[in-house]
Amino acid sequence: MSSRAVRRLSTSLAVVLVATAAGGAETVEDFVRRHWRAPLAAQGTAPARFSTLEASLRPESCGTCHPAQYADWRTSWHAAATGPGVAGQLVEMLESDPGSALGCLGCHAPLAEQSPLARNAGRLVPNPVFDPALHREGLPCAGCHVRGHQRFGPPRRDGSLASVAPRETLPHGGVTRTPAFLSASFCRGCHQFGTDGTTLNGKPLENTYREWEVSRFAREGVQCQDCHMPDRRHLWRGIHDSEMVRSGLSIEVASPRGRVGAGDVVSVTLTVRSVRVGHAFPTYVTPKVVLRAELVAATGELIEGSREERVIAREIALDLSREISDTRLLPGQSATLRFRRRLPAAGISARLTVVVYPDAFYTSFYEALLQQGAGRGAAQIREALEATRRSPFEIFRRVLPLS
Ligand code: HEC
Ligand code: HEC
Ligand code: HEC
Ligand code: HEC
Ligand code: HEC
Repeated sequence: MSSRAVRRLSTSLAVVLVATAAGGAETVEDFVRRHWRAPLAAQGTAPARFSTLEASLRPESCGTCHPAQYADWRTSWHAAATGPGVAGQLVEMLESDPGSALGCLGCHAPLAEQSPLARNAGRLVPNPVFDPALHREGLPCAGCHVRGHQRFGPPRRDGSLASVAPRETLPHGGVTRTPAFLSASFCRGCHQFGTDGTTLNGKPLENTYREWEVSRFAREGVQCQDCHMPDRRHLWRGIHDSEMVRSGLSIEVASPRGRVGAGDVVSVTLTVRSVRVGHAFPTYVTPKVVLRAELVAATGELIEGSREERVIAREIALDLSREISDTRLLPGQSATLRFRRRLPAAGISARLTVVVYPDAFYTSFYEALLQQGAGRGAAQIREALEATRRSPFEIFRRVLPLS
């Protein structure tokens, strides 16, 4: 059986039994609930036989023995989850509204050791096990793989859960293997907001797991990991990566046949279809995708006033008070831009492009935040704002001679 088939089998069954450390059995759902209990408990003291390296929660420590995963993870958005946009907001929030700040950290830096504050008898106090360097690592390896210094991971690639050698002889006491790592529910805690938070037009701001759950991909047993961790790579590419975005879409142009000349009306269509995106395209409220058509002269110069656009996005107000529009594509859906124009002269072409703005909402949001005054976070917010301005890219371009 291929590893893909093993994975589908093990994750699509409703009741999958998982061997626990205690030797009992639990379902994937039970494991996920226990593993992602919020907030996570501190790891406690490492077993005495652990070397300093095995006891360390720092990703670079894991990386000395797992260099491939470390190299991938380093380039991922998970590693950047406490980047300037988040950190810049947290500086002031940790003082003005520490409860909400801890809520952000629950997804952006989930280990107890990453939080400057801890709860003690309902009060927030300085956290005795706080590690500021680990705080800056976003979602580190240990956030997904380590609880109470015990390692958890997926089944071996052949599907087996057994240990190759007595666990006490292996580094960090070996691994507890569970098919829960192959299941979309492993990602749910952070990629699905609860209905107790902000909902606009009946939908939480982030509804990715739910969108996936009702899609054909869930019915076919295709998990988040199958698309976002192919061959178990730790890259988690998404809306910021042009190849990843293209992999989910088919893009087609239909143009007039035969000869047309100056004065004729031509009509061209540009269609984007979601064929392999496992949720709404795009899933979050922050990106925007623009289908664009315009006329250009033989010199490549844009013909003034000829541009037409169609937006694919879930646009919301900056203060999160309302949804302005939702034109996202559910799996299988398509959006078409119909471009009809009278040709002003000969030698004219239509230029068709599809442009992705991964951080469109944040550009306006950070501008507004800086205007209001971002306090001691201002320098980081400015850095994040600049990054949102650099992030757009084109995934499609065709110049179509019309006459
Ligand atoms: C001293 C070297 C060393 C360090 C440090 C180390 N590991 Fe490991 N790790 C290993 C070895 C060797 C195995 C293979 C054990 C086995 O096959 O059961 C392993 C296995 C694993 C597995 C299961 C891999 C698989 O093949 O399915 C995971 C997950 C894991 N380690 C995570 C971590 C994390 C997270 C850290 C840091 C917090 C870490 N390790 C630090 C040596 C190390
Ligand atoms: C502990 C919380 C947490 C878990 C668990 C988690 N993620 Fe994430 N993920 C995040 C956060 C936070 C971000 C945004 C990081 C940032 O840019 O600040 C993110 C970003 C992403 C992105 C976005 C990349 C982009 O282009 O914007 C993808 C894809 C992704 N995660 C996939 C997954 C998958 C698949 C799983 C399950 C195997 C998973 N995540 C589990 C917290 C989590
Ligand atoms: C339930 C988990 C969760 C919580 C709680 C959460 N986030 Fe996020 N956040 C995410 C995920 C997942 C993404 C990536 C979303 C995507 O691309 O679908 C993200 C993306 C972001 C980004 C854009 C990426 C970046 O690094 O610039 C910012 C900024 C951000 N969150 C700030 C916050 C702040 C501030 C809070 C607290 C008020 C917060 N988040 C609470 C999960 C969460
Ligand atoms: C967002 C959660 C998450 C983070 C962060 C994460 N991993 Fe993983 N890791 C997973 C999942 C899920 C799998 C199983 C993926 C699959 O089989 O599709 C996995 C698999 C592995 C494996 C087994 C690989 C194999 O080829 O069998 C190792 C080793 C590992 N991770 C180590 C690490 C290390 C080291 C880091 C940090 C540099 C890290 N992980 C960060 C979720 C995570
Ligand atoms: C069939 C493949 C497929 C599956 C299954 C899938 N995704 Fe995606 N995902 C994509 C593609 C392609 C993109 C890039 C286009 C986009 O951003 O929508 C993407 C983008 C993302 C992003 C970037 C943010 C955004 O606004 O789009 C996040 C976060 C994400 N996926 C998380 C998940 C999670 C969590 C799951 C499981 C519940 C999942 N994905 C299941 C293919 C998939």
